[in-house]
Amino acid sequence: MMFSTYLQLIILCTISTLKTCTSLNLSIIPFDEAFVPLYGSQTITLSNDGKSVQISMNEWSASGSGFVSRYPYNHGLFTASIKLPNNTYSAGVVATFYLQNNELMRDEIDFEFLGHIEGEKWVLQTNVYGNGSIHRGREERYTLPFDPSKDFHYYSIFWNSGRVIFYVDEWPIREVKNVESMGGDFPSKPMYVYGTIWDGSNWATHNGKYRVDLQRGPFVTGYSFIINGCSLDPFDSTPFGCDVVLPSGILSFAERQKMNWYRTWLMTYSYCDDVDRYPGSLPECRVEGPGMQPEFFTRVSG
Ligand SMILES: *[C@@H]1O[C@H](CO)[C@@H](O)[C@H](O)[C@H]1NC(C)=O
Ligand SMILES: *[C@@H]1O[C@H](CO)[C@@H](O)[C@H](O)[C@H]1NC(C)=O
Ligand SMILES: *[C@@H]1O[C@H](CO)[C@@H](O)[C@H](O)[C@H]1NC(C)=O
Repeated sequence: MMFSTYLQLIILCTISTLKTCTSLNLSIIPFDEAFVPLYGSQTITLSNDGKSVQISMNEWSASGSGFVSRYPYNHGLFTASIKLPNNTYSAGVVATFYLQNNELMRDEIDFEFLGHIEGEKWVLQTNVYGNGSIHRGREERYTLPFDPSKDFHYYSIFWNSGRVIFYVDEWPIREVKNVESMGGDFPSKPMYVYGTIWDGSNWATHNGKYRVDLQRGPFVTGYSFIINGCSLDPFDSTPFGCDVVLPSGILSFAERQKMNWYRTWLMTYSYCDDVDRYPGSLPECRVEGPGMQPEFFTRVSG
């Protein structure tokens, strides 16, 4: 586990900027060091070595469970190793890994898994909100080229002032650039890290057609984390642990090709293409189009 984690992150670093990556901490962070329970604490189970946690939803804990980081972070590379519920039917059960703050003008960066019915493809959703733009969702959905309930896989969020990049097993799948046309909708304030499992019956699986069936539970999701970010004291915002130098986050030509491959073949929905919802589409879509940023055509090396 540790070794493969190391390898995975080395890859993540190499594809960014090796130079700045040497200061990344590639260890899984002990759960208690980084997180506290948020709700449903009776269904949060720590592993014996303290490095991973299982959270679940069942008949006795119908609203699920979740945890939140002890500290907010201002930028970082956040990697969760996640194994989803392996029940034959987990429709409506939403499992998440996300960053968020509790400000009135909220910022948020999401990975959400939208439940599953055996024989169908899993659906992963990503989303970004900034400065309280909660009525302007920027959802994208994808299928996965593996069964995420069989094994642990890595899901990473890279976030700095210039961009957000989502990775699945170190493969970039989405880049959100802080372009001027997005205005304040780009996440800009320190955020906490969350992992949750909850009942999304009303919308998650086939738009809510298939609901949670608690009798088919318990629905168990496993997590462990590698966090490299600048943490802040939640009370007076004093930074600490900020000696980590993050990669630049600028995708190389090869990475951009990988990302475009993923988006061409595995993306099933983009808010940029949803003309019923956003007639004329949001400004950054008109400028760049999903996955087809101008850089793709002009830049030939990282
Ligand atoms: C890396 O993280 C581990 C787990 O949190 C911690 O024990 C260790 O001190 C960290 N190392 C560095 C160099 O920050
Ligand atoms: C299903 O997942 C649970 C929780 O991760 C695990 O304990 C169990 O062994 C898994 N079952 C199968 C058949 O993989
Ligand atoms: C955030 O939203 C508020 C209210 O809509 C607005 O006044 C403010 O200018 C926005 N901030 C940024 C950075 O865009």
